[in-house]
Amino acid sequence: MKYHILAAILLLTLLICDGLASEKPRKHKKVRRSRKPALNIDTPENLSNTVESEENAPEAEVVPPEVDDVIDNRVPFVDPCATVHCGAGRVCQMDEDDEPMCVCIPDCPVEVEPRRKVCSNHNQTWDSDCAVYQHRCWCDVGDERCKGDKFKHVHIEYYGECRDMPDCTKEEMSDFPRRMRDWLFNIMRDLADRQELPARYKKLEQEAETNHTRRWTNAAVWKWCDLDGHPHDRAVSRHELFPIRAPLMALEHCIAPFLDSCDSDNNHRISLKEWITCLEIEEDVLEDKCEDIEEAFSHNI
Ligand SMILES: *[C@@H]1O[C@H](CO)[C@@H](O)[C@H](O)[C@H]1NC(C)=O
Ligand SMILES: *[C@@H]1O[C@H](CO)[C@@H](O)[C@H](O)[C@H]1NC(C)=O
Ligand SMILES: *[C@@H]1O[C@H](CO)[C@@H](O)[C@H](O)[C@H]1NC(C)=O
Repeated sequence: MKYHILAAILLLTLLICDGLASEKPRKHKKVRRSRKPALNIDTPENLSNTVESEENAPEAEVVPPEVDDVIDNRVPFVDPCATVHCGAGRVCQMDEDDEPMCVCIPDCPVEVEPRRKVCSNHNQTWDSDCAVYQHRCWCDVGDERCKGDKFKHVHIEYYGECRDMPDCTKEEMSDFPRRMRDWLFNIMRDLADRQELPARYKKLEQEAETNHTRRWTNAAVWKWCDLDGHPHDRAVSRHELFPIRAPLMALEHCIAPFLDSCDSDNNHRISLKEWITCLEIEEDVLEDKCEDIEEAFSHNI
């Protein structure tokens, strides 16, 4: 009899250890996800992850954990951190009361790849985007490693080491809207080819393919709706521009002045009208186009 109890305890311990071990990689995955610098300019989509997590930075978002890993019928086992989404530069940890909380990431992965380096808004090269967000977190929580107030708002200006950015000349700038339109259309087409374009934009894309006069407009509308995601408020904020600004900056030094010029009324937000005008597209489009796209799509399914 004693034997059986002992064996049962042993089995239980093994199960619990196993459970813990299989939970661990999930936490690490989170960290990796938020530091992935998508320098791949073909798919600026991938950057939206980083932006999203940056937006939600300060507070942890706690979703009630689902109780699915029931080991025995008395003690349900869940990793409380598995459902917590921490902002960039933060990871979930248990505090003294066994409550999950977001803390500044203790160690950023050591980066040897120079491609992982990023240039901040202070024109300072950092080893990785993780390092930037970690430092901002330190300043946020009053950690003594914070090197000064200005780092409270440190952010990535572009990927790669800081360098001397050539000025955008008048000629380059005057050609830029055309290049940008081309680029947007090509990206949209590429995503469609790779089946990565969200279904609600498929119609826009097909129309752009078949009707030449819709080409630039549809590409512009797609990108604008896509950027206006967090929050979805019919205006693209400085923050929401990050997915096109940061990866393009190192390759296209005119992108910053171009995007600044789009905000013609200087309210730090780009309306669809401003976006279309700035891309030099001559067409009237309605501001609620994105909702229409989503609505039409949900009606069709
Ligand atoms: C970008 O995201 C897509 C899925 O959304 C993925 O298939 C692709 O591999 C990603 N590209 C990079 C460079 O991470
Ligand atoms: C930024 O730093 C780079 C590299 O140190 C330097 O060449 C460049 O002139 C700096 N740019 C500005 C605007 O200070
Ligand atoms: C192409 O788009 C233009 C502008 O919206 C429209 O007036 C025209 O009828 C369309 N052509 C075809 C063939 O659908």
